[in-house]
Amino acid sequence: MSDRQAVLWTAKDAAIATGGVGSFREATGVSIDSRTVEPGDLFVAIEGPTHDGHDFIAAALAAGAVAAVADRVPAGLSTDAPLLRVADTMQALVDLGRAARARTQARIVAITGSVGKTGGKEMLRLALSPQGSTVAAADSYNNQWGVPLSLARMPRDTAFGVFELGMNRAGEIAALTHQVRPDVAIITTVEPVHLEFFPSVEAIADAKAEIFQGMLAEGAAILNRDNPHFARLAVAARAAGLTRIIGFGRHGQAEARLIDALADANGSVVIADILGQRVDYRLNLPGQHWIANSLGVLAGVKALGADVRAGAAALAAMRAMKGRGERHAIALPGGTFQLIDESYNASPVAVRAALKVLAATTPAAGGRRIAVLGDMRELGTAAPALHAGLVADVLAAGVDLVFTAGPLMGALHVALPKERRGGHVFESAGLTTLVAGAVRPGDVVLVKGSLGSRMGPIAEALKSLHRDGPRARAANGA
Ligand SMILES: Nc1ncnc2c1ncn2[C@@H]1O[C@H](COP(=O)(O)OP(=O)(O)OP(=O)(O)O)[C@@H](O)[C@H]1O
Ligand SMILES: [Mg+2]
Repeated sequence: MSDRQAVLWTAKDAAIATGGVGSFREATGVSIDSRTVEPGDLFVAIEGPTHDGHDFIAAALAAGAVAAVADRVPAGLSTDAPLLRVADTMQALVDLGRAARARTQARIVAITGSVGKTGGKEMLRLALSPQGSTVAAADSYNNQWGVPLSLARMPRDTAFGVFELGMNRAGEIAALTHQVRPDVAIITTVEPVHLEFFPSVEAIADAKAEIFQGMLAEGAAILNRDNPHFARLAVAARAAGLTRIIGFGRHGQAEARLIDALADANGSVVIADILGQRVDYRLNLPGQHWIANSLGVLAGVKALGADVRAGAAALAAMRAMKGRGERHAIALPGGTFQLIDESYNASPVAVRAALKVLAATTPAAGGRRIAVLGDMRELGTAAPALHAGLVADVLAAGVDLVFTAGPLMGALHVALPKERRGGHVFESAGLTTLVAGAVRPGDVVLVKGSLGSRMGPIAEALKSLHRDGPRARAANGA
């Protein structure tokens, strides 16, 4: 784009922000990945765990980057290549982010929590976009690279900025919140997720509470009133100087309170009281967890000073994200089965939420509820017990058949009554044929696991039964 409005960084502003030296055309975007560079981007050459961005400067420039932020000139790069020379490119990215934050009048909301950050961020984007120019971080850009990059991409004239803050260890959210300086912080919930690097769930709560450290006293903390760690987080918010603490949930004292929800196969109609304002709205996503997340989101909308009713109405457009609840009807000879693709992410609380959705989905005539579960990663020494502990939820959900993959899911497999065991394998790849051979018309099949457990290919294979159903099933002996 060539209009002045789209200018994000002039060479002068970028140089002032980073203390760097160089001249180049105005940048309309920022990138740290040469493979996705767009024309007009400023490419920041970051030294990552596996690659050094300096090796990709030439590729980024060839793809249309206006310049590269670099702390050295890589061998072989043309001497007239446009560069912004800095002492440390990672610091330069943070500096750009901080400068973008400092120059905008935007109202900023940051969302963290054990689950529901990206979903909540996307709901905030939808709720705020009709009310003013809104930027929200891409994908799950929530770490030491994603957050400063998202900040650096925020135009000066933004009205609302939405950021996702994630962490694996104590101290990480603190570093990020000092960059984002949110006006409003939402903590979706605190659960045993990423337990590997924490001694207890309380320690996880404390790490989430670091988000308050980057806020001014007039900022608002939006906390899940139904979570057992609510009081701990509220104390931390007050200790950080915040006075506006807003609870959301079913709890009678929640300021953003669920009044009623009517669920159907595709979602729910929600009636809520958001800080004294009654709203009813439609969510086209099934599951109690989406209702809970939406209450936090609308409390956030209110705290930002935006219109709650308009925000609530906009939530009807929210759809399942990739691998997080997408539904597919897959035709087989003789009828269809339903796939619920949750292959992107898993933790005990997320699996429980997904099992409840499976329970609420009625199979068609002759069909069964089938769960295909892969390991939940990063749970530390409690992992086997947390896997076996899903057995009660599986039974309560009325799941007829459970297929499991991975060394940890073995603990669930042996805990299951024999007649519910569909099969267990060590590597998820070994499950595809088993599951594909077992599904029948009328079934509802939930596929869920941590991304690293590679359950995605199983979901893909089930989808492809649609195309070459009879052949694939014949090959599987079904
Ligand atoms: N409030 C909730 N309670 C239980 N499960 C939830 C809740 N919100 C979302 N989930 C589930 O958690 C999983 C991850 O959702 P999402 O991607 O929004 O979370 P995230 O916090 O961004 O995760 P990540 O740490 O991978 O960035 C999904 O399976 C989703 O259905
Ligand atoms: Mg995320």
